[in-house]
Amino acid sequence: MAAGKLVVLGQGYVGLPLAMRATEAGYDVVGFDVDKDRVERLCAGDSFIEDIASDRLAAALATARYHPSADVSACEGFDVAVITVPTPLREGLPDVSYIEEACELLGPYLTRDCCVVLESTTYPGTTTEVVAPILERHSGFMAGADFRLGYSPERIDPGNTIWQFQNTPKLVSGVDAASLVAVREFYETVVDNVVEVAGTAECELAKLVENTFRHVNIALANELAMVADELGIDIWESIRAASTKPHGFMPFYPGPGVGGHCIPVDPSFLSWRVRRRLGYAFRFVEIANDVNDHMPDYVVRRLSLAFNKRALALNGARVLVLGLAYKANSGDARQSPAVPVIEHLLELGVVVRLADPHVGPAPLDDRVTRVEATVEEARAADGVLLLTDHDAFDLAAIASEARYLLDTRHRASGPTVEHL
Ligand SMILES: NC(=O)c1ccc[n+]([C@@H]2O[C@H](COP(=O)([O-])OP(=O)(O)OC[C@H]3O[C@@H](n4cnc5c(N)ncnc54)[C@H](O)[C@@H]3O)[C@@H](O)[C@H]2O)c1
Repeated sequence: MAAGKLVVLGQGYVGLPLAMRATEAGYDVVGFDVDKDRVERLCAGDSFIEDIASDRLAAALATARYHPSADVSACEGFDVAVITVPTPLREGLPDVSYIEEACELLGPYLTRDCCVVLESTTYPGTTTEVVAPILERHSGFMAGADFRLGYSPERIDPGNTIWQFQNTPKLVSGVDAASLVAVREFYETVVDNVVEVAGTAECELAKLVENTFRHVNIALANELAMVADELGIDIWESIRAASTKPHGFMPFYPGPGVGGHCIPVDPSFLSWRVRRRLGYAFRFVEIANDVNDHMPDYVVRRLSLAFNKRALALNGARVLVLGLAYKANSGDARQSPAVPVIEHLLELGVVVRLADPHVGPAPLDDRVTRVEATVEEARAADGVLLLTDHDAFDLAAIASEARYLLDTRHRASGPTVEHL
């Protein structure tokens, strides 16, 4: 069993799974979060992260080695601290203020030879240019010489039941050789496979390469979908056909746009850094943003054209929208393309009925009525719009009753179904 005191700063989608796994591995873990409500819920054994079942949280609490806390003094005496706080975009610019705040809070608790790791997704250079100076200022120690410092991006894919925290290879890096060893040795105790990266900037960039790759390829699939539709070609069939090539091809699929806190955000960290440092545009990211951001509009346009063909106007029509979350079987609606789609529908005078069994109460326009995805709802609607392909939707039953269904995920079939 691993031993020592670990502090995880931030108990969200990334921090909580790490805290659980480290508790199971034998560490004494402080789950520090500035959100007191979150901490209270955690102390009560109530998990708000879908990948962490409440009984797993309860088991961690029962070991008496997992301590959720909103009191920063609980960090005292740590051996390893991992920072997993948010890194959003604010008006299109990277906001690393949560990282700065976490470092300000942690700095006074550094001791000689402790190890600090940044996991938040960020632009290359953050570990040495933002994290190190704040920790050094508060502690009087030098990163590398007096304490270990590194970067290790999280690759968690919420809802993925195959690739989870423990079996997903973990990239590790350090500001010097000793830091790399310390970071690697820590992660070797909690994950199955650790991969060393030569420097923290390379490691920070690796995470952005992964998500930019996805962002750009989704944009390519979206652009192909729009072009293929105009050419009267079924893009889904073409992608299925291309996917049979056993080498050099990886399928990506069209959809109503990108959402969540990674794909729409992370590539812009890279383009911001390129523009700031080098003075020119990172064109792939800008084109991909442009295409993906346009998709909610395109979906509404397709719906409107379909209604037009049936001699119906969207104004006053009743539309059952299936899905608010940004991805299937998730309750996460952050940056979901469903939000702009619904806004556009409301602007056009559509009576929006929205079904999403995974997303709890959400700040939506009062004109949106939350309903269950029943066959009766489908029958009563002038049209159905599938935005998120939750397994909980009985699409066969809904498709058989819908007068018209625009399926942006290629999951339904039937005479009244049209795909993106
Ligand atoms: N969610 C994912 O799927 C995912 C995957 C890979 C990487 N990431 C990255 O990991 C980071 C964290 O993302 P997340 O989804 O876990 O965010 P989250 O919002 O779910 O959780 C972050 C937590 O940090 C807390 N926090 C904010 N400031 C703090 C501070 N100063 N000290 C302690 N806690 C603080 C917040 O209260 C919140 O509970 C981001 O950089 C994100 O881009 C997320």
